Amino acid sequence: MEKICEGRVAVVTGGGRGLGRSHALELARHGARVVVNDLGGGPDGTGSDPAVAEAVAEEIRAAGGEAVASGHDVADSDGAREVVRLAIDTFGGLDVLVNNAGILRDRTLAGMSDEDWDSVVRVHLRGTFAPSRAAAAYWRDRAKSTGAGVDGRIICTTSPVGLYGNFGQTNYIAAKGGIASFTLGAAQELARYGVTVNTIAPTAATRLVLALMTDEPPAEFVAKFDPGFVSPVVVWLASPQSAAVTGRIFDVRGNRVALVESWRIGAEILRDEPWDPAALGEVVSDLVAKAAPTPDISGYVQPQEG
Ligand SMILES: NC(=O)c1ccc[n+]([C@@H]2O[C@H](COP(=O)([O-])OP(=O)(O)OC[C@H]3O[C@@H](n4cnc5c(N)ncnc54)[C@H](O)[C@@H]3O)[C@@H](O)[C@H]2O)c1
Repeated sequence: MEKICEGRVAVVTGGGRGLGRSHALELARHGARVVVNDLGGGPDGTGSDPAVAEAVAEEIRAAGGEAVASGHDVADSDGAREVVRLAIDTFGGLDVLVNNAGILRDRTLAGMSDEDWDSVVRVHLRGTFAPSRAAAAYWRDRAKSTGAGVDGRIICTTSPVGLYGNFGQTNYIAAKGGIASFTLGAAQELARYGVTVNTIAPTAATRLVLALMTDEPPAEFVAKFDPGFVSPVVVWLASPQSAAVTGRIFDVRGNRVALVESWRIGAEILRDEPWDPAALGEVVSDLVAKAAPTPDISGYVQPQEG
């Protein structure tokens, strides 16, 4: 087997369960030395348990790999800095940051509490920003001191619902949409240091998804959406092979890898004079008729009935 991440040092946030655990194991299988970070809390972000990260680090070591566990909260600035510091102190550097930690607190908008909003935005958005900032500062200093690019990688995690929308998840959708946009700006900023920034929008049968199902999930659903289908894309993005790809979003479901095309100007109309609001109804109807239709949660535009 060709090991495409041999010798690289990777941090995986939320690496103790679900997708993060799968990414950590697959990165280690491809030769990476891994900091498995996980707060070890519940699906809603409450509680903590250091044994969750430790179990995956131990699984990697038992298979002959190198790993260390971190129970830090990555949405906390000091916690995020300490995770990056742990990689540098333990393995001598950092090459890859996988921002994967996440929680859910689904509510409809009218019933959403401030706490449900803030906690979800905090874990996803600050939990992406804070470790990315710590890693970016390390890579900037290293690039400046060596005068060479660092071949670094940030791989973030958005969600199909953050790109295409869904019912009852405005806190999560706003946070995940923010991560997709963060990718575009961070990719532009960090290119000069030799760092790429890409994002995956995964679908996988993990506790976050299974908890939303009222019935026992069908075995074929669990098999089709095993997190192991998503991790190969993360490993490739983490490897030196992906150096030319940055600012991209990949929708990964089962064995399908798709590139998500970003916001861009669609139908447009120009005129020299300012618009009269009363005249805009007809103009906007015409623009909407000409515009590409909005996809549903699958990411595809469904054929219109009739
Ligand atoms: N499962 C899916 O279909 C799906 C779809 C779209 C996006 N995602 C995203 O994928 C990521 C992984 O989710 P999962 O489905 O594997 O869920 P999961 O609950 O199995 O794993 C998430 C892990 O993140 C950890 N975590 C939460 N807050 C943390 C914090 N502040 N610091 C450190 N660790 C923290 C949790 O303890 C947990 O182990 C999340 O960002 C999620 O939003 C998942």
